[in-house]
Amino acid sequence: MSTTIFNTQKSILQAIEIPELVQRGIKLYVKRDDLIHNEVSGNKWRKLKYNIEQVYQGKFEGVFTFGGAFSNHLVATASACNQLGLKSIGFVRGNELTINSNDTLKRCYELGMELRFLSREEYALRNDKQYIHEIQSENLGFYPIPEGGSNYLGVIGCQEIVKEIEIPIDHLFIAQGTATTSCGVLIGKNSQTKLHVIPVLKGFHSKETMVDILKYALLDEDYANELVEDVIVHSEYHFGGYGKYSDELIHFIKDIYSGYQLPLDFVYTGKVFYGMLEELRSGNFDNQTVVFIHTGGLQGNGELVVFG
Ligand SMILES: Cc1ncc(COP(=O)(O)O)c(C=O)c1O
Repeated sequence: MSTTIFNTQKSILQAIEIPELVQRGIKLYVKRDDLIHNEVSGNKWRKLKYNIEQVYQGKFEGVFTFGGAFSNHLVATASACNQLGLKSIGFVRGNELTINSNDTLKRCYELGMELRFLSREEYALRNDKQYIHEIQSENLGFYPIPEGGSNYLGVIGCQEIVKEIEIPIDHLFIAQGTATTSCGVLIGKNSQTKLHVIPVLKGFHSKETMVDILKYALLDEDYANELVEDVIVHSEYHFGGYGKYSDELIHFIKDIYSGYQLPLDFVYTGKVFYGMLEELRSGNFDNQTVVFIHTGGLQGNGELVVFG
């Protein structure tokens, strides 16, 4: 397998010195997975890595995957396949859409992804084994990657985020969408490190979802429950729900960018960084080392980018 695109050396650990935290003796670092690649960024990269390895091992000629109209995962998959000389098919939710509907879809098309637009009813079958099997038999030589890269191999890839951090960590903060990335981090982290998760969806059942994911990654329910028990969930930083934001959040993101050159997006990392700073002011983290995992963002896919 060509390993050149799966090079994570650019994901540095950046120290961020925010005066009020420095006064509290808090050492804050950001694991900059957003720097890995401009399109196959952050957790997208981590989730694809071992899936793409399977493509090589199985001598597949390409992959097929699923995503919504603005899916970062679709662009990331199209870009990775483009760089590796693999074919890609993207099944998109919404048969009213076309390749010209937005910049995300246009970019996927430019990168050589064949886009097939599904009705919402058909898209709902995306995790059905029989349905996937049918697509495979109609597209021989194509390896299936689930929506968001959220499968066992995706979880395993995300373990490596934390394995690359060489300093002792007291607390890790990370965003949750499907919870795949945070499950990988949970498996990969040291037992001394506390994992804090911030779901960006309102009413998301973080722990239950994590146990479900870990069951298929670890195959041992008791161990999954034991691991998840210690996860700290901060569920009050969703700003109204997925994709919702306030002026305060936008100002915050701009301030962090101008003060620390740290780009954040308003769907995931901006909310988590905001929530983390609120928590760090509580006094419970004084004199400890905290790492924020930057899971990438919305750069270049045509959605509202609010930094810079
Ligand atoms: C930038 C970013 N951060 C965090 C997440 C959440 O990751 P997960 O769905 O694995 O919980 C996503 C979604 O994949 C994302 O695009």
